[in-house]
Amino acid sequence: MALPVDDGTFSMQTFTKLIDLRAHLRDLRRQGKTIAMVATMGNLHDGHLELIHKASTLADIVIATIFVNPLQFGTGEDLEKYPKTLNEDKQQLQAAGCHLLFAPTDKEVYPHGRDNQTIVEVPATSNLYCGTSRPGHFQGVATVVCKLYSMIQPDTAVFGEKDYQQLHIIRQMTQDLSIDVNVVGSPTKRNADGLALSSRNGYLTADERQRATALYAVLQSTAKSLQHENADFPQLCEQAQLTLEDAGFKRDYFVIANANTLMLAQPGDKQLVVLAAAYIGAARLIDNKVVNL
Ligand code: PAF
Repeated sequence: MALPVDDGTFSMQTFTKLIDLRAHLRDLRRQGKTIAMVATMGNLHDGHLELIHKASTLADIVIATIFVNPLQFGTGEDLEKYPKTLNEDKQQLQAAGCHLLFAPTDKEVYPHGRDNQTIVEVPATSNLYCGTSRPGHFQGVATVVCKLYSMIQPDTAVFGEKDYQQLHIIRQMTQDLSIDVNVVGSPTKRNADGLALSSRNGYLTADERQRATALYAVLQSTAKSLQHENADFPQLCEQAQLTLEDAGFKRDYFVIANANTLMLAQPGDKQLVVLAAAYIGAARLIDNKVVNL
């Protein structure tokens, strides 16, 4: 079995065919190894590598997946131009001590074609917020994560908390379908100026990149107002939207939700999450801030 060592001989193994991956994982499981999965769409940055590090503390074997999942992109979205950097990604994964990479083709994941694929849908939350702006997005995410679970059968799966709604939906899907995977969230990795790391930051011009820091700044100031017992949620959200517009963003949504149910927060709720998505230039950025009162 390949394990990371410092003498330069460690080599991450890459699989593109499910049949080969399954045979390899069967062997590892027979040896009693535990497996942690980090699902990605590639174009990796330090945020992804943080997930790999976290995964390596939770299991013997870390497997990353790189698959730009067509099912979670709507018409007119950035599926075609989503950056593909497989060679660089492999080097980064290997340097981070990732043991295995599964990088399947569309055909390997959706053998009957995306239009004939059985779909997994988590009710209630899938059509809110990002699900309103991106109809079908979370059905695509839940479906591919469910498929990756059954392909890999990991003990643990690590997902970033930047995609708060996604993580919530994946947790519910895992529970609802009684899937024996421990879902672990990993804190958002940020640039020094607060902007959350995201593959989509690459779409920003230098000027937009500077302006983009407003997103986290507004989340923080909203969190501060909530801590100071301002419970006029609609007014706080409208104020935040105006500040973002001043910084050059176009609106998508800005909401204060119950951190556990994701439904809009009600006065008296103590565990809140401020969720935001906004457009700047060619990018749609999302971020969030949890607030415990
Ligand atoms: O967060 C992502 O990159 C994707 O939504 C995921 C979880 C890899 C599913 O395609």
